[in-house]
Amino acid sequence: MTVLITGGAGYIGSHCCVAFLQAGHDIVVLDNLSNATSISLDRIAEITGQKVVYEQADIRDQAKLETILKQHRCSAVVHFAGLKAVGESTKVPLAYYDNNVVGTHRLLSAMANCGVKQMIFSSSATVYGEPQFLPLTEDHPTRAVNPYGRTKLIIEDMLRDVAASDPSWGFGILRYFNPVGAHDSGLIGENPLGIPNNLMPFITQVADGRREQLSVFGNDYDTRDGTGVRDYIHVTDLVEGHLRAHEVLASGSAPSNCFAVNLGTGNGYSVLEMVRAFERASNKEIRFSFAPRRDGDVAECYANTELAHKVLNWKAERDLDAMCRDTWNWVCKNPRGYETAVD
Ligand code: NAD
Ligand code: UFG
Repeated sequence: MTVLITGGAGYIGSHCCVAFLQAGHDIVVLDNLSNATSISLDRIAEITGQKVVYEQADIRDQAKLETILKQHRCSAVVHFAGLKAVGESTKVPLAYYDNNVVGTHRLLSAMANCGVKQMIFSSSATVYGEPQFLPLTEDHPTRAVNPYGRTKLIIEDMLRDVAASDPSWGFGILRYFNPVGAHDSGLIGENPLGIPNNLMPFITQVADGRREQLSVFGNDYDTRDGTGVRDYIHVTDLVEGHLRAHEVLASGSAPSNCFAVNLGTGNGYSVLEMVRAFERASNKEIRFSFAPRRDGDVAECYANTELAHKVLNWKAERDLDAMCRDTWNWVCKNPRGYETAVD
């Protein structure tokens, strides 16, 4: 039986493909390449020594989804495909509802019609909104603070409703904290287009000289050095959590037919701690200056990881130095992304 990986050519999806192939699963990747290149698929093949079965398709194309699910005899779906930029979602909310909510609805409908009833879904810690307490447990109240976050919450609710309607469905909702890092081969990694919104890609572009300096958004938060604190998690640890979630669903050992768990390390690092860690890993100076707080940012956000440990028997293992080292290795080998690999 085969696992369908939607968004499998993207940043997290490509790492997930490697993990699933190396664990002996057959996979088929579905991606519309709206935010990826098929070169990532060649790299997955290079890392694993296995051919990657790929279907270029859009998750909103239900008829095509049904053909793919049947043709490849899929038994489960790992669902990464979607749009993910918070700022953009406030400018073009309908595109977010269409890709993320309508897309997931079509995918679930296709799965229902084909009798494929297990899904692992990429959710986000953004569903917790402003933390009322830390570390964040899965029963922390949820609240969307932007259209992107709202699409994740709507999808989570849709999955809970479908699960409640029929016990033969199985859903693992994985709430990611801040994924960073790259495969230790340096062959796959994050490849943002334009000016990066997120901290780690911005730091890498200062390190490699593409940007002059980092703006540190806020140095007056109530944190140990005044800058924002987040729970950064190595992408390789993150995708190992998916592998465990798949095993738990497939073996029938899930605590319920729709469970939600945090994927984080439980450790919070400040922006300045990230800058220093990246300087150590890259041996480059990261110039920065303080700028006003960014709208919508919270002071601190980090996970309680106990439930993930209990349900998935999984814990993140890679530390901040590994996250920075692997990111820098990827950037040095691919200075401007996939199109510019250097030997
Ligand atoms: P990404 O953009 O690299 O990957 C998403 C992939 O989905 C891309 O390859 C894109 O081409 C594809 N895609 C988008 N819309 C599609 C559609 N309609 N049909 C088919 N393919 C489509 O992003 P990522 O960082 O790998 O994120 C993967 C998932 O994890 C997303 O759902 C994202 O919301 C979620 N997530 C990411 C983060 C993060 O910080 N990276 C944090 C929390 C949650
Ligand atoms: N930051 C800077 N300068 C920058 C970029 C970020 O100082 O140029 C700071 C932010 O203010 C924040 C920290 O670095 O304190 C992390 O910011 P990111 O943008 O990297 O990450 P966020 O925590 O804001 O958001 C990320 C994803 C969201 C997701 C959330 C929780 O972008 O999609 O994690 O999973 F919802």
